[in-house]
Amino acid sequence: MFYPEELVEEVRSKNDIVDVVSGYVRLQKKGSNYWACCPFHGEKTPSFSVSGSKQMYHCFGCGVSGNVYTFVMQYENYSFPEAVKLLADRAGVKLPELEYTEEQKARAGRRARLLEVNKEAAKFFYYQLRSPHGEAGSRYLQARELTGETIHRFGLGYAGKNGAELVQYLRSRGFEDELIKEAGLANYSERHGLVSQFWNRVMYPIQDVNHRVIGFGGRVMGEGEPKYLNSPETPIFDKRRNLYGLNFARTARSGNIIICEGYMDVISMHQAGFTQAVASLGTAFTPEQANLLRRYTELVLLAYDSDDAGVKAALRGIGILRDAGLTAKVINMRPYKDPDEFMKALGMEAFQERLDQAENSFFFEIRILQEQYDMADPESKTRFHREIAKKLCEFSEDVERDNYLQAIAEKYFIGIDNLRKLVASYAAQTGLAKPIERPRSGVQTKAGPEESARKAQRLLLTWITDEPAVFEKVRKYLSAEDFTEELYRKVAKRLFTDMDGGSFNPAGIISTFEDEEEQQAAAELFNTSLPQLGTRQEREKAFHDILFSVKKNSYEYFSAKLGSDVNALNQVIAGKKALEELAKTHISLD
Ligand code: GTP
Ligand code: MN
Repeated sequence: MFYPEELVEEVRSKNDIVDVVSGYVRLQKKGSNYWACCPFHGEKTPSFSVSGSKQMYHCFGCGVSGNVYTFVMQYENYSFPEAVKLLADRAGVKLPELEYTEEQKARAGRRARLLEVNKEAAKFFYYQLRSPHGEAGSRYLQARELTGETIHRFGLGYAGKNGAELVQYLRSRGFEDELIKEAGLANYSERHGLVSQFWNRVMYPIQDVNHRVIGFGGRVMGEGEPKYLNSPETPIFDKRRNLYGLNFARTARSGNIIICEGYMDVISMHQAGFTQAVASLGTAFTPEQANLLRRYTELVLLAYDSDDAGVKAALRGIGILRDAGLTAKVINMRPYKDPDEFMKALGMEAFQERLDQAENSFFFEIRILQEQYDMADPESKTRFHREIAKKLCEFSEDVERDNYLQAIAEKYFIGIDNLRKLVASYAAQTGLAKPIERPRSGVQTKAGPEESARKAQRLLLTWITDEPAVFEKVRKYLSAEDFTEELYRKVAKRLFTDMDGGSFNPAGIISTFEDEEEQQAAAELFNTSLPQLGTRQEREKAFHDILFSVKKNSYEYFSAKLGSDVNALNQVIAGKKALEELAKTHISLD
């Protein structure tokens, strides 16, 4: 732990989770909890809940859980100490200067050092561009009609022809060769030693949502291969989970986000005032990026190149965005190749018009589909109509499907009843789309007796945190030792100790775990889905069964350890007695 546990707890308790989360997503009160569409996966109906009494959130769709720290970590892409810092500032708590142990330095240090070396390299490239050596770079960027202000805003730079300079500079700033290499800034060569990876290129620093430089793209000036050289993936540079320009686009408040193909497109769009433009990082658009966008907008406009490759990329993107629960539209850039060229030729007002006319993604898909068929040939035309019917089956909601069906029938002059029949016949063959089920993240579930024993332990922990009043009844039969899974036992120990002492604070327990995965797993223990039970009798029976199951599992667990564990005997004797008593006791829940 970087900060003393009490301080971490003080900061946490001064940041009400409902307040903090509502700064990021719009929450609605329903019952005793607050609800929203989950910011961590795509969905159209809210299954993300925030509990003021537990000070935790949980998504019933994708399974994420946690307290206010884990929320900030996941949302802002922060490490634990960074989340503590943000929330301490928010609550006006002053944090002490940190004193790191060697081990802590090594662990937290690596990411931080990679960020530092990238920042320093970005500075170096930035000053190079403005030095006499950087004239070629300046000329190139000017020729591309970028203003000084734009160049400054995006931190553009220049990597000179002398590949040793960057390395010398970084060494002089105290960065080790190993780190420079790990950041992807330089490579070893037999002849020259460590030399810059980027050479005679204009440099585009790639920033995460918090404006931290996580990698670079370097472009040749003029013709040459490869056109762009990008940093390799590193512990801080995950190309699937970041988007170029998102650090600005996230605050654009334009009601939409525009995805382009290239860095240059993003830059010239921003220069023209469309600061909601982003691009993927030299790779295809990913589901992870769609989920990231989901936090900032519901409407995504695709401004891909107007060539075949761009159309293909748009079709792929539409599928990914739809799966993420986002609405997609396609901007037509013809006759120009990409937003950059369009903007130069026609300017921002013309682009705004295209933006307003962006095509519904389903219409776009059908229009592209039609190009493969010959409408003059009845056979080919029929196949086209069949494909339309198949695609209509992908809508899971009746109203939406029927609205599209009507619109398409009108647009392509298909008899509406005929199209309905066709859809019905495909639906009968293959079934209509079901709302997508997502695998739960976090703790893996394995069926079988072990899993059912674990499940009972989880249910019990959740039950206690949902209804602290039952603790007294649990305590009569169980101790924390009865939780046989290591993580569960750690959590139970904390929970039982707190509650024995009259305090109740599940959210605080989560931050006593250092690593993020453990925090997530611990949080999930407090958010298992309890069976929905109607009558009191049903509830009492379920409660009894869970208690019995946890105790029985513990009894078997310790029995197996007799002989090898000195504590086991006591546990076995106590367990046997408790089981016998439980078997004949009715526990009432009132
Ligand atoms: P300009 O040609 O300068 O206008 O750049 P652009 O940003 O419009 O690039 P383009 O449309 O050609 O390519 C889109 C994106 O694909 C770029 O921004 C890069 O991220 C990536 N890309 C293009 N060429 C290469 C390449 O040679 N190597 C790699 N790794 N990525 C490339
Ligand atoms: Mn371009």
